[in-house]
Amino acid sequence: MRIPRPARRIPADAPLVTGIRVIDMLFPVARGGAAVIPGGFGTGKTVVEQSLARLSDADIVVYVGCGERGNEMADLLASFRELLDPRTGAPLMDRTVLVVNTSNMPVAARETSIQLGITIAEYFRDQGYHVALLADSTSRWAEALREISGRLEELPGEEGFPAYLASRLAGFYERAGQVTTAGRPPRRGSITVVGAVSPPGGDFSEPVTQASLRLGGTFWALDTERAHARHFPAIGWLQSYSLYVERLTPWYRARVGADWDARRAEAIGLLARERQLLDIVELVGVDALPDEDRLTLEAARLMREVFLQQHALDPVDASRPLDVQFAALRAVLAAWHGMVAALRGGATIDEATSAPALRELERIKSWTGEGIPARLDGLATRLEGLP
Ligand SMILES: Nc1ncnc2c1ncn2[C@@H]1O[C@H](COP(=O)(O)OP(=O)(O)OP(=O)(O)O)[C@@H](O)[C@H]1O
Ligand SMILES: [Mg+2]
Repeated sequence: MRIPRPARRIPADAPLVTGIRVIDMLFPVARGGAAVIPGGFGTGKTVVEQSLARLSDADIVVYVGCGERGNEMADLLASFRELLDPRTGAPLMDRTVLVVNTSNMPVAARETSIQLGITIAEYFRDQGYHVALLADSTSRWAEALREISGRLEELPGEEGFPAYLASRLAGFYERAGQVTTAGRPPRRGSITVVGAVSPPGGDFSEPVTQASLRLGGTFWALDTERAHARHFPAIGWLQSYSLYVERLTPWYRARVGADWDARRAEAIGLLARERQLLDIVELVGVDALPDEDRLTLEAARLMREVFLQQHALDPVDASRPLDVQFAALRAVLAAWHGMVAALRGGATIDEATSAPALRELERIKSWTGEGIPARLDGLATRLEGLP
């Protein structure tokens, strides 16, 4: 289990599609890539991991519950027997492997649970499946390493973790990747690793988060403030990043939209601008802002509430296809452009922000049925031309 199976690696060229907007549109993870989700207590690590197990387009899911609550794993097992995989119609459990080592089980077994999970993932990868390995939480694994190392009286490193912590973590994350299988005809398989990290006190400067950061290509930083404000998923858009964006851009341009990367950059720019403006507002108050900046704040609010927030248990909005996600992103940006154009055309702030099309935009999360992308595009056209 500790020695990776041999593999002929090929570069990643497609994303793991999750149905979660902030992930798929802003911070995607490549098939065969690795993502790290650090987050303090109760910020939503388990909910994100379980949503990925339920919704992502992997062929096989290996879920490693490492040192976390037993009831969460029991719930997962029970619900996955009943929930159906939308792609195959079979129970989700048919494509899922659970490796369970809950907090009440022995530490030595915890140390191996992650290794066991990734070994099972390699077994399926080598048959040409796309596998998602979801580990919740790698911090408990690191703590098991620390405890065993302590009992062996090894020389401790940072915060009592063994000096080889970083290399063990690397040994785990490096087993992610896309490969061609040895059989004839050769097929493609992949392992995408998503590791949750539970930094004590939500402090990302601790050793496990820092070591993981260097290994994952995507970083979904869960933000305690967002979680407290019930903004879910609490993925902080200013701290998070994806190093795969450049490599995945051709895929997105071909499958999602030729201007995907441009729209993505625009959305991230809007959110970054909001942060700057909020800093100013804190000092001088919102009334001191020029009207156009106030519209930027309003557009950013729409971006957060209409696009980024996505309730994991919402029956219609929990997972959206990529074309719907991208149309929603374009609609919110259209609202921004439309409000600014209205202002420049002589409208007041109140007029620019009270158009009925804007209220309609705020309700798109409940839209169901066919043809949503086209309906969203229609709405975007109206938003662009606000009176
Ligand atoms: N995407 C989401 N949509 C809706 N609610 C969410 C979402 N993410 C988290 N929550 C809410 O936050 C609560 C805590 O989430 P979760 O158990 O995933 O946190 P955690 O980071 O795993 O915590 P711990 O550190 O205790 O393991 C959930 O019970 C749920 O109410
Ligand atoms: Mg948890």
